[in-house]
Order: sequence, then structure tokens, then C-alpha cells
Amino acid sequence: MPRVFSGIQPTGDIHLGNLLGALRNWVSDQHEADSFYCIVDLHALTVPKEPGEVGQRTLELAQVLLAVGLDPEVCTLFVQSHVTEHSELAWLLQCVTSMGELRRMTQFKDKSEGKDFVSAGLFTYPALQAADILLYDTDRVPVGEDQIQHIELTRDVAERFNHRYGETFRLPAASVPTAGARVMDLQDPTRKMSKSSESPAGTILVTEDLGSVAKKIKRAVTDSEPEVRYDPAAKPGVSNLLSILGAVTGRDPEEVAGDYEQYGPLKSDTAEAVVELLRPIQERIAELQKDPERTAALLEVGAEKAREVASGVLERAKRNIGLLPRAHG
Ligand code: AMP
Ligand code: TRP
Repeated sequence: MPRVFSGIQPTGDIHLGNLLGALRNWVSDQHEADSFYCIVDLHALTVPKEPGEVGQRTLELAQVLLAVGLDPEVCTLFVQSHVTEHSELAWLLQCVTSMGELRRMTQFKDKSEGKDFVSAGLFTYPALQAADILLYDTDRVPVGEDQIQHIELTRDVAERFNHRYGETFRLPAASVPTAGARVMDLQDPTRKMSKSSESPAGTILVTEDLGSVAKKIKRAVTDSEPEVRYDPAAKPGVSNLLSILGAVTGRDPEEVAGDYEQYGPLKSDTAEAVVELLRPIQERIAELQKDPERTAALLEVGAEKAREVASGVLERAKRNIGLLPRAHG
């Protein structure tokens, strides 16, 4: 079975874009690959956080991930800081990554622009991400398209390391889901749905009240032309609804467009489909919240499984670099 690895930050609430663009593919992948899914809490520290905030968010995110269908019996679900190999390999990789490469990363540019305080961690963030991926001899990394640049950097760094120190890392490839890969903001459909959006009306949270979910979809911005057609450039709002409905129902947005002549029915069907997608997820979250210890125990099992793989790969990297081994051998 191929090895799959992906990570998600415990920052902000999970929205429909995360669910359709990333998490649903994690759930289906777990049965087709040896899958490792990581809550990347150390990445969350690259921008200032209040004490305790990241831990609380990590627990909540784990509950959402379990509720959407990640099965700890099938995949390995764990927290990045529980497996210290991630930080250690990140350092080794920073030393084979150039400043120029890091400076070209658009996520760094976006997240640092106009900020008073830009941490060194935000700059070296992709080296930690590369460590996450390379520690598991990963074949494939399912991500949204915004992360492709980081996966390409991971390959470049792995190749450079292998060239310098001998064959050490397997080269991973990004895989971007086709349907619903990009969910746009309901109020500004030229921007992707995001937790940092200024308009709450444009974003749907997985934990949001279902009445509010339906209302937001029915109030989504469209255009004044009456025709239902999938055309993201000319008709971003309508196309976004078509791709959301397509992603939820497993159909092509173009094909979905053929079923509608008016915006009203498209909006109500999309609202209903999203509400019915979220309802059982919200019920499972409520169950898990009653017993936080259970989630913590599942994460500990995941960390143990992850450490078994990660420690071997880290040792391989240190051996190939030729660091002086400890006396015990
Ligand atoms: P983030 O919320 O930026 O930490 O992203 C978590 C995961 O969700 C990544 O794989 C992103 O590529 C994906 N993602 C975030 N926003 C969207 C969106 N609007 N549409 C599709 N995928 C998204
Ligand atoms: N940088 C990713 C994001 O912002 C999160 C991430 C961290 C990740 N490590 C990873 C994704 C490893 C895939 C593989 O969404």
C-alpha cells in the first residue's frame, strides 16, 4: 500500500473548504493507503498564540477529524508535538534549505505581509512541513492547491539531501482532489473560503448552526444573468455553488449545472445537501465532547504508531549525515 501523509493546523474553526478540499479525501484515502494524519500544532506557533490556546484547539480539531470519519483503527492520527522527531528533522532540513527558496514561498509572503512581528518560524515553516512528510517515507501528500509549492520544496530539499548524503528520503508527490478542490467565499467568490475571511457570511463552519448554514448558502452572491452555467471566470458565485453541490454529491459541476434553470432551486438544493452532510458530523462531535479523555487516548495510540516509523527515518538521516553516534551504538 502507498504511504500517505497530510497535516492540518489547529487554528481557527474547520470550514466547508477544509472539509471538501481536504478532509473528505483523507477519510476515503485511509482505506486505500497506509495513511498518517497529523495535527500540526508546532506550525500553529509560527504566529503568536495565547497560552493554552493551541492545546485546546488541538483537542477540538481531533474531535472534528474523528467525527468526519477518520478511524484510528485504520489510519494513524496524531499530534505533531507528541512525536519529537518532527522538530529534530526540521532542523536538519533547514540546513539544506536556502533562504532564497523560503523567500519564494507565497504562503510566507501572504502571512507576513503588513505584520509587525514576523517570526523566524514562519519563515522556516516549510522545512518543518518537509520534515513531517519525509519522516514517514511518504509517497503521496493530499493537499489543497495552495500547498503544492510546499510539496515541491519538500521534493527539492529531499533530493538535495539525498544527493549530498546518499539515498535517505523517498520523494513525495502532491495530490490535489479534483471535485471541490477549491471552495470559494460565498460573499466574495473570487477569494477562497478561509477562516481569516472578514465576512462571516461568506464562510461555513463545520460546527455551525444548521439553520445559519442554510441561510448563508441561500444568500450567497451570484450574478444578474439568469443562466445556470459552470464558468468560474465569468460566473464565480454560481460556479462555486455548482462545485460545492458537485463535491457533496460526487458529481461534476458541469453536469450539475444541467439540472438547473434558475438560481433559487440551485441554492436550496445546495443548502440542503450541505446541511445533510454536516448533521451527522455535528452529532458525532457532540458525543466526543462528552468524553475528552477518549480522544486523548486515541491520539496517544496514534503518536506511538507514528514514532515507530519516524524514529527509524530520523536515525537513517543522522547516520547518513555522519553525526557522531552515541556510545550505546
Ligand atoms: P488551512 O485551513 O489553510 O490550514 O488548510 C487546511 C487544508 O484545507 C489544506 O489542505 C488546504 O489546502 C485546504 N483548504 C483550505 N481552504 C480551502 C478552500 N477554500 N477550498 C479547498 N480547500 C481548502
Ligand atoms: N502547511 C499546511 C497547511 O497550511 C499544513 C501542513 C503542515 C501539512 N505539515 C504538512 C500539509 C504536511 C501536508 C503535509 O495547510
